[in-house]
Amino acid sequence: MTKILVTSALPYVNNIPHLGNLIGSVLSADCYARYQRLRGNEVLYVLGTDEFGTTTENKAREEGITVEELVEKYFKIHKEVYDWFGTSYDCLGRTTSKENREVAKDIFLKLYKKGLIIEKEIEQLYSEKSETFLSDRFVEGECPHCNAKGARGDQCDSCGHLIDQKELINPISKLDGTKPILKKTKHLYVDLKKLQPTLEKFFNERKDKWSAQAVSITQQWFKRGLEPRAITRDLKWGISVPLEGWEDKVFYSWFDAPIGYIGITKECLGDKYASWWKDKDILLYQFMGKDNVPFHSIMFPSYLIGCEDGYNIIDVLDSTAYINYGNAKFSKSKGTGVFGDDAIKSGIASDVWRYYLFRMRPEDNDTEFVWDDFYAKVNNELVGNFGNFVNRVVSLTEKFFEGKKPAKKSSPLKTDVEKLLKEYFALLDRSRERDALTKANEISSLGNKFLQDKEPWKLVKDNLAEAGEVIAECIDLLKVLSLVYRPFIPSAAEKVAQIIGFDIKSGFENAFDEIKDGTKLVPQGILFEKLEKKQIDDFRKKFSGK
Ligand code: MF3
Ligand code: ZN
Repeated sequence: MTKILVTSALPYVNNIPHLGNLIGSVLSADCYARYQRLRGNEVLYVLGTDEFGTTTENKAREEGITVEELVEKYFKIHKEVYDWFGTSYDCLGRTTSKENREVAKDIFLKLYKKGLIIEKEIEQLYSEKSETFLSDRFVEGECPHCNAKGARGDQCDSCGHLIDQKELINPISKLDGTKPILKKTKHLYVDLKKLQPTLEKFFNERKDKWSAQAVSITQQWFKRGLEPRAITRDLKWGISVPLEGWEDKVFYSWFDAPIGYIGITKECLGDKYASWWKDKDILLYQFMGKDNVPFHSIMFPSYLIGCEDGYNIIDVLDSTAYINYGNAKFSKSKGTGVFGDDAIKSGIASDVWRYYLFRMRPEDNDTEFVWDDFYAKVNNELVGNFGNFVNRVVSLTEKFFEGKKPAKKSSPLKTDVEKLLKEYFALLDRSRERDALTKANEISSLGNKFLQDKEPWKLVKDNLAEAGEVIAECIDLLKVLSLVYRPFIPSAAEKVAQIIGFDIKSGFENAFDEIKDGTKLVPQGILFEKLEKKQIDDFRKKFSGK
């Protein structure tokens, strides 16, 4: 048995998560955690919300409520969405918890004592009207490279150049429309340069198990050479820096957010958190979108290695590309795409959403959410293959065998199923979730084909025993199917297990133990409804998609 600590990137609390956020990290981590539990491993899945930072402050201002009220309100929505989607987290918490504040301060002070924190004075744009330094996204002006108007403080969208906010021509504060001034301020930096050799060594020891994308992004950073990185900000909504003379500054949210994985574990388990974060027999497996890679492959490890406090460091980094909404990006402000709360209100079961999201999981390249494809995959595969097989087996058993499992002497499907199951394991061990789902579908197809070839509904006429053999074999296959689908569509899988009286928690270990002859099936009704064309057209209009 292995102990596996699974984390999902902590979504920003200032927005409702959309389908892309969900499949990119939350559901990906859920699938892997569920799979490993079924393999008999001990798993802790840590999830939560990323709550500090300017964007949260601004959102509160927009909504006319305090920041505290805002994070309360949205944390509840996030929890509702995760629960509705059947996310099997063991710990759910928040980066603003008391525990996380303590852990973040402690790690910072240890880095400071080890001489890994550097102080620098810089000049930054400051709004006198709002009495605040302006972060890059809150200043706009003319691009110093191409003179386009509307360049942001970090980048010009017209020519693509990265910009230092000080270089903007005629800068304007987006907070209040005033002309900002340059003002001196000081910040604290983590000395990544000093840590580069250690970070590279640790990366090289692990990279073989990482997604290709994560490896190449991280290598680019090393190649360019690591520079000291600021970890403080002139803001109010954050954890104040625990050093004399620095009390009016806070940590940059990318400092306390990844530390949040530890803080959340502590929030939820108390002192037992150490058995996951400090015991050495743990495998730490982290899921995220590709934009989060450097923060998990370089920044977070630099804090943990640098503070020398015995924390476990990432073993496997699994990153996803993006799922776009048709050819656009999901965007709340533009009203593009389906968000968690929309899915809850959709009248479509969460398993159905999960099915399509895993089928489209952007494992190597970006993918697209397309309504017609959603319609086709759900109806042809989920309903037409798996759902159909389960229904056929249950109704044939009821019709010809009084709903009880007939006797069988042989297991004609076993060799093929074992082979596919091995391939399924190999895929999920590397979190190739989309391909593993396809493998599950192949196992289900095998059952449908078997029924089609044997035609037990004809056999019953003159060879009831042989018809019974076929049905019994299919009933045993339901057990394997309930297991292989469980990480993807947990509620439906649970129902299939209930049909055959199988305790699904017992996992894969006895997947091939036969269900006793004479077992009375417990039908659970129809597993999934077919989607209607009309329903899909209405959604497409409502969410203005492709
Ligand atoms: N909130 C970030 C995002 O949604 C992810 C933070 S991951 C963490 O992109 F580990 F830093 F919390
Ligand atoms: Zn430009």
